[in-house]
Amino acid sequence: MRSGPDSVAIAVVTIFPQLVNAVSEVGVTGRAVDNSVLKLSCVNPRDHTSDPNRRVDDRPYGGGPGMVMQAPPLAGAIAEAEKVNGQVTGAAPLVIYLSPQGEKLDHSLVLELSGYSNLVLVAGRYEGVDERVIEALVDREVSIGDYVLSGGELAAMVVIDAVARQLPGVLGHGDSAAQDSFAGQGVLDCPHYTRPETYQDMSVPEVLTSGDHQAIARWRRQQALGRTWQRRRELLEEGGLSKEDKRLLQQYLDAQN
Ligand code: ADE
Repeated sequence: MRSGPDSVAIAVVTIFPQLVNAVSEVGVTGRAVDNSVLKLSCVNPRDHTSDPNRRVDDRPYGGGPGMVMQAPPLAGAIAEAEKVNGQVTGAAPLVIYLSPQGEKLDHSLVLELSGYSNLVLVAGRYEGVDERVIEALVDREVSIGDYVLSGGELAAMVVIDAVARQLPGVLGHGDSAAQDSFAGQGVLDCPHYTRPETYQDMSVPEVLTSGDHQAIARWRRQQALGRTWQRRRELLEEGGLSKEDKRLLQQYLDAQN
């Protein structure tokens, strides 16, 4: 049973609110916003600068290429984001800075973050943000993978989507999130099929049209285990398999040879 909050307020600090706000308009996250399970807002650091041209970046001390986001506009925007979220939830905020230097996002971190009802996500641009903002105002630094994006917005959107799908009522089926790849079982998802039954001479696996629900569940588990073994073996080594899983996996591997 899930014990986290029923809704989450997420405020994103970004100079591109139009990009982040797109998650409110479509799909699962859009529905979560419509149902007030996800309260999404954006705060623009450009609204918190005294510069007449609304600049929020400057040259790096010590020289070198690129620009750095300045502390004062970011600090002002983070304070505003905390205030906005504070109006919808009494909970204390968790402030996350998205960057390639952060801890890598995975399913267990998503579950941990979905335990908070007040998240402030700080999306940087340029070469990064003044380190003193991170030191003084950021609780956690999160990366979505070992590659560099042009800014933290897409990473923030990944966090928003992954967290929102954990909230009750956001997905169509109550237990869909629990059945997601990685959820609990630490294995990849099984293959899925829908009509037509034959497509380009490829038929749907017979068991799926058999009506035998136990056999279908067994087949799905076996496929999930087999694919995990072939594609991400380290996941199985981390988790440890039950006797029945070992038997299903062995049968899968035997059938491949
Ligand atoms: N900003 C730029 N690259 C990023 C990454 N890989 N993860 C999170 N934020 C980022």
